[in-house]
Amino acid sequence: MDLGTANTLVYVRGKGIVIREPSSVARKKKTKELLAIGSAAKKMEGRTPKTIESVRPLKDGVIADFDATVAMLDYYIKKVHESGTVIPKIPRPRLIIGIPSGVTEVERRAVADAAVNAGARRADLVEEPMAAAIGALLPVEDPEGVFIVDIGGGTSEIAVISLGGVVLGRSVRIAGDEMNEAIVSYVRLKYSLLVGEPTAEQVKISIGSAYPLPKEKFHIVRGRDLETGLPKTVKLTSVEIREALSPILREISKCIIETIEEVPPELIGDITDRGIVLAGGGALLAGIDKAISEATHMPVVIAEDPLTCVVRGCGILLENDSLLNKIKLTG
Ligand SMILES: Nc1ncnc2c1ncn2[C@@H]1O[C@H](COP(=O)(O)OP(=O)(O)OP(=O)(O)O)[C@@H](O)[C@H]1O
Ligand SMILES: [Mg+2]
Repeated sequence: MDLGTANTLVYVRGKGIVIREPSSVARKKKTKELLAIGSAAKKMEGRTPKTIESVRPLKDGVIADFDATVAMLDYYIKKVHESGTVIPKIPRPRLIIGIPSGVTEVERRAVADAAVNAGARRADLVEEPMAAAIGALLPVEDPEGVFIVDIGGGTSEIAVISLGGVVLGRSVRIAGDEMNEAIVSYVRLKYSLLVGEPTAEQVKISIGSAYPLPKEKFHIVRGRDLETGLPKTVKLTSVEIREALSPILREISKCIIETIEEVPPELIGDITDRGIVLAGGGALLAGIDKAISEATHMPVVIAEDPLTCVVRGCGILLENDSLLNKIKLTG
């Protein structure tokens, strides 16, 4: 399972990815009674009446709402585990969960406990960048070293992995969510137009880029005019959105450069040969590979299907106990 800030994915041995939903929970404010989980809850974001709240259980790579996290975990475990059509009922499944590396030890234990309470026989936790590297089929056990950057919703995780361990790791709270926020503020400042974060995310996905596009694009957004209070429509161009996103990309590049500077000399040659591997949804931003390559003077490659690297890595670990035992988080 990939318990991400933006998306939760579940991989079942022999079946592949069976669940792929936004990490979102909608519930009644007073009683905390659950109303929806996953995409149904995400659709309610920014649209809920006063009595209902739509929450993101994880934010900035840490658990922001513990009850919601447990509810979501419980729901997906039961859903997979009880639906005989997806897998023949396994009485007590074994679980491997990829979690952001910023999650505290207390929270980790709580996540593992929640999984056990939801019916798991055992729950092992692995760090997201390690799971992503394994899912990207990188040789994490070799001595050559791999350099992975996972740009998710809440965090960008940068790691250098060699001999089955994280040699260097850095986690920054600047990723997809901040890109959305940057678009919201850009549009507010330039056009006095208030748009919601879901709209900003659509803009980012449809016309966002980190490097000039062969053919620039545009996207029409509707929001509220801050001066008149009335609805207004604005045509945004990919050039503008690139300008809005550039401070975020500069920040991510800066963290990558700082990490490169700390790479032990024995590893730097091999890492330069293979290049930086990008995973996570942020890797899908158009031209991000070119932008990071230009900033770091390193080759950059995008992992295949970057949104599923972590969960596929967890799937590989289900079949490889010796590697799992080497890398799983303890405590
Ligand atoms: N085509 C795209 N262009 C730019 N960003 C994208 C694209 N597709 C998805 N994203 C962004 O990727 C992010 C989600 O990525 P991902 O599912 O890897 O995050 P996560 O694993 O849930 O979060 P984290 O790893 O921080 O806990 C979202 O911010 C989403 O807007
Ligand atoms: Mg992630």
